[in-house]
Amino acid sequence: MELTSNEVAVRLAQKGYLDLDIPKGIDLISEIKRLKKEKKAVLLAHYYQNAEIQELADYLGDSLYLAQTAEKVAAEIIVFAGVHFMAETAKIINPAKKVILPDLNAGCSLADSCPPEDFKKLIDQYPGASVVTYINCSAEIKAFSTIVCTSSNAVRVIGSIPEGETIIFAPDKNLGRYLIKETGRDMILWDGSCIVHEAFSFERIVTLAKENPTAKFIAHPESKSQVLDIAHYIGSTSGLLNYVERDPAQNFIVATEAGIIHEMKKRCPEKIFIPAPVEDETCACSECAFMKLNTLEKLFLCLKNEQPEIKLSKSIIKKAKLPITRMLNLD
Ligand code: 13P
Ligand code: SF4
Repeated sequence: MELTSNEVAVRLAQKGYLDLDIPKGIDLISEIKRLKKEKKAVLLAHYYQNAEIQELADYLGDSLYLAQTAEKVAAEIIVFAGVHFMAETAKIINPAKKVILPDLNAGCSLADSCPPEDFKKLIDQYPGASVVTYINCSAEIKAFSTIVCTSSNAVRVIGSIPEGETIIFAPDKNLGRYLIKETGRDMILWDGSCIVHEAFSFERIVTLAKENPTAKFIAHPESKSQVLDIAHYIGSTSGLLNYVERDPAQNFIVATEAGIIHEMKKRCPEKIFIPAPVEDETCACSECAFMKLNTLEKLFLCLKNEQPEIKLSKSIIKKAKLPITRMLNLD
């Protein structure tokens, strides 16, 4: 891969080695709005982004909604305020668009836990098996898949696989175990997990729940089974948002990335949301460090320079698109 001087400069700036000219005293928020308009770019953001980025988004949502939106978007440039696999998915399903991500290092522990060469060895052991992959994986892993799913539609996707077929599910073992319970289907699970959701502490959640007896405990299915077993409600980020809106409870203990609380408070200003505690009391582990790599400064530079850009070969786009399209056609 060859990089232009401009691309090298942006990489150095992202690592803090080069001060790319962000004019002193500029209002980043109005500059980002101006650049979006000037470049006819559309900003897609996930609920785990910083509040100020969520506020700038043209489309804000969970992984499924953002994939559905990316497929339909008319703008020439998609700026993805999320993590790498999300921007990559947007490029796969709408390859004619320029897809840019404020920080290319915004990865995901789940995607990293599933290297393509190791995954290939597993699927080779089960010829004819259906391979269901959680969208939190690389384009190479998607290319090996029968169908992709998100936490919003995973139960339905598993239900679309004919009874009696062997199912391999990757990369999240916690979501996989939850799906086995929900669907009654046996599945071969990849041993991956999300560092953010694995960090929640069962003991500290129980203590907090005792201190807040009227609070409902809600969790994302990437959390450990011990934590999920005591949840009043389990759902994707959009599922959790809909639940807090419709449930009459006034207090909620929330086991997912803390960025979602911004949208919860907007939708239900009179309710109280308490982030679920993590094992390490000294750490802000309920924040996804990858998601939080995107900042207003990087978003501004990304729009200004139209990079870093997601680039994929035609062959990987072709192979990875099919299982994503199968999923989108189910909805
Ligand atoms: P959602 O599918 O609920 O948006 O979750 C994405 C994610 O990365 C969870 O950690
Ligand atoms: Fe990946 Fe977990 Fe971050 Fe979601 S919260 S992007 S699964 S590391």
